[in-house]
Amino acid sequence: MKNIIITGGAGFIGSHVVREFVTKYPNYKVINLDALTYAGNLENLKDIESLPNYEFVKADITDAAHIFEVFQKYQPDGVIHLAAESHVDRSITDPTAFVMTNVIGTVNLLNAAKEIWKDNYEGKRFHHVSTDEVFGALGDTGLFTEDTKYDPHSPYSASKASSDHFVRAYHDTYGLPMVLTNCSNNYGPNHFPEKLIPLCIHNILNKKPLPIYGDGKYTRDWLFVIDHAKAIDNVFHNGKNGDSYNVGGFNEWQNIDLVKELCKQMDAKLGNTAGTSEQLITFVKDRPGHDLRYAIDATKINEELGYEPSVTFEQGLSITIDWYLNNQEWLNNVTSGDYQGYYEKQYS
Ligand code: NAD
Ligand code: TYD
Repeated sequence: MKNIIITGGAGFIGSHVVREFVTKYPNYKVINLDALTYAGNLENLKDIESLPNYEFVKADITDAAHIFEVFQKYQPDGVIHLAAESHVDRSITDPTAFVMTNVIGTVNLLNAAKEIWKDNYEGKRFHHVSTDEVFGALGDTGLFTEDTKYDPHSPYSASKASSDHFVRAYHDTYGLPMVLTNCSNNYGPNHFPEKLIPLCIHNILNKKPLPIYGDGKYTRDWLFVIDHAKAIDNVFHNGKNGDSYNVGGFNEWQNIDLVKELCKQMDAKLGNTAGTSEQLITFVKDRPGHDLRYAIDATKINEELGYEPSVTFEQGLSITIDWYLNNQEWLNNVTSGDYQGYYEKQYS
C-alpha cells in the first residue's frame, strides 16, 4: 500500500489525475488535498468518491501548519502537486494570489515532504505539475524542449517558473526526489469556463459572443486532459529522478481556427445551420503581454517513456463537446454566482 497525496485534485486536470490513480491502482490510497477555490469542484469526482482507496481533505497549501499536519497524518510516499491559481487573465488582475498559492504553497509542500521523509528518500517522489508557459513565447517556428531557457512573461507563468525552480532547488540542495512535467494547454471534460474552449462552448449554448483576443492569430498546442493524466502517471512511475519532461501532442492551432472548428462541430451536434455559431465570433481587446505561440517538443517523453496521446484533436474535441452537452447542469452550477461578476469585469 502506498499513500499518494494529489493536490488540486478537485480542479480540472487534478480530478482526471485522481480518477486515473484511484481506478488504476486499487492498492494506493489516494488523498485529494484541495482548498476548493472557485476552480475546485467535488462534483468532478462524484463517480469515484465512494471508492475505498479515495479520501478528500480540505486544506489550503498556503497554510504551512495545516499542510504539515496533513502530511504527518497520511505519511505520503508520493506527492503529485497540481494545486494552483491557473488562469492567466486572473493573474493579470491579482498577481499576489498567484505568488501565494503557486510559489509559497509549493514551498510549503516541499518543506512538509522534506520534513516527513526526514532525508530518508527511499521509495519517495515529489511530482510537480507545471506548464509550457514558463518557457515564454515562440516566434513562428521552433518548439520548446526540456532545455529551453525559462522566460516567463505573465504573472501566472512567472509564479509557475518560480515554483519549478524551488522544486529543482530542493532536489539539488536537499536531495529531495522529484520529477517535473511541463505540459501544453489542456482541454476536456470539467474544464472551468474561463478558459478559451469551455468559455466558447458555454457561450455558443447561450448564443453569446465568442471573444477572441487581438487578431486571433495567437497559437496554442492542445492536449486532451486524460492524455495529460496518463502522462503524469507514466512520469510519476517511470521518470528519472531529478528530470523534467515536456508533455504535448504536436497539435498546434491558431485561436481563430480552433474556435471555427469548435463552431463547426457544435453546429453539427446542435442541428444548427452551418455557420450559425461562427457569427458569434467577436474580436476584442488583446490580453496584455499576450504570448504569441506555445508549442511543445514531446520527443523525450515519447522516446524515453514510450508515451503518446491516445486521441486526435478532432476526437478529443468531440468527446469534450458531448460531455458539456450532457452535463449542462454542471455548467449552469459553475457559471452561476461569482462567475457572473468575473465575466462582467473581464469582458464588458
Ligand atoms: P484549475 O484552476 O482547474 O484547478 C486548480 C485546483 O487547485 C482547484 O481544485 C483549486 O481548488 C485548487 N487550489 C487552488 N488554490 C489552492 C490552494 N491555495 N490550496 C489548495 N488547493 C488550491 O487548474 P488546472 O487547469 O486543473 O491546472 C492544474 C495544474 O496543472 C496547475 O498547476 C497548472 O499550472 C498546471 N497546468 C495546467 C494546464 C492547463 O491547460 N490547464 C496546462 C499545463 C499545466
Ligand atoms: P486560455 O484558455 O486562457 O489559456 P492560456 O492563456 O493559458 O494559453 O487561452 C488560450 C488562448 O486563447 C490564448 O491565446 C488567449 C486566447 N483567449 C481568447 O482569445 N479569448 C478568451 O476569452 C480567452 C479566455 C482566451
